[in-house]
Amino acid sequence: MNNKAVQSSTETLLDAAKIAQRVRELGTQISNDYRGRRLHMIGILKGAWVFMADLIRYIDVEVTVDFLGIASYGSGSTTSGQVKITKDLDRSIEGLDVLAVEDILDTGLTFTYLQEMLTARKPKTLKLVALLDKASRRRLPVHADYVGFTIPDLFVVGYGLDYAQRYRELAEIRVLHPTPEDAGM
Ligand code: IMP
Ligand code: MG
Repeated sequence: MNNKAVQSSTETLLDAAKIAQRVRELGTQISNDYRGRRLHMIGILKGAWVFMADLIRYIDVEVTVDFLGIASYGSGSTTSGQVKITKDLDRSIEGLDVLAVEDILDTGLTFTYLQEMLTARKPKTLKLVALLDKASRRRLPVHADYVGFTIPDLFVVGYGLDYAQRYRELAEIRVLHPTPEDAGM
């Protein structure tokens, strides 16, 4: 178990072995669905990079990658609904089979915005894989084509996910009960 940097109250929701098993299953499913085609994976930074790095190694069709940097939260845990592009794509996605890779779907505000932005760039197809889905929190009708785990309405960190930029390095996904320290106080 990887306990580094955990000061506040957390408990494990998904351990590393469980995550690895599910990521492998997603990789197999995605490979089967894209058989004979080339897949262009777009990782949504920063939360999705750990998941994407693992997922890509379980995909056995030809893959190219790009990254889109966005910031949707400030330093807290409630969505602002405002999405800021912090890094745009390096290349055009016109005519490509695009798979957007997200860490977590919550209210759906972020991906609704991204979907519109990406669709306007004319990919041949656009699908979404999200490692986690807090389906009960949805405010806009966003649908992920592939979901790792549907989870309850809890704030989670680790495996790339942060709270105020912390905890991304944890190997497992933990539920965070913030203390004043977490808020930088
Ligand atoms: P949405 O726009 O409400 O769907 O929020 C999606 C984004 O909010 C994700 O890509 C995450 O960056 C962030 N987010 C939502 N819930 C959590 C959480 O439990 N832990 C960490 N980040 C989260
Ligand atoms: Mg994110």
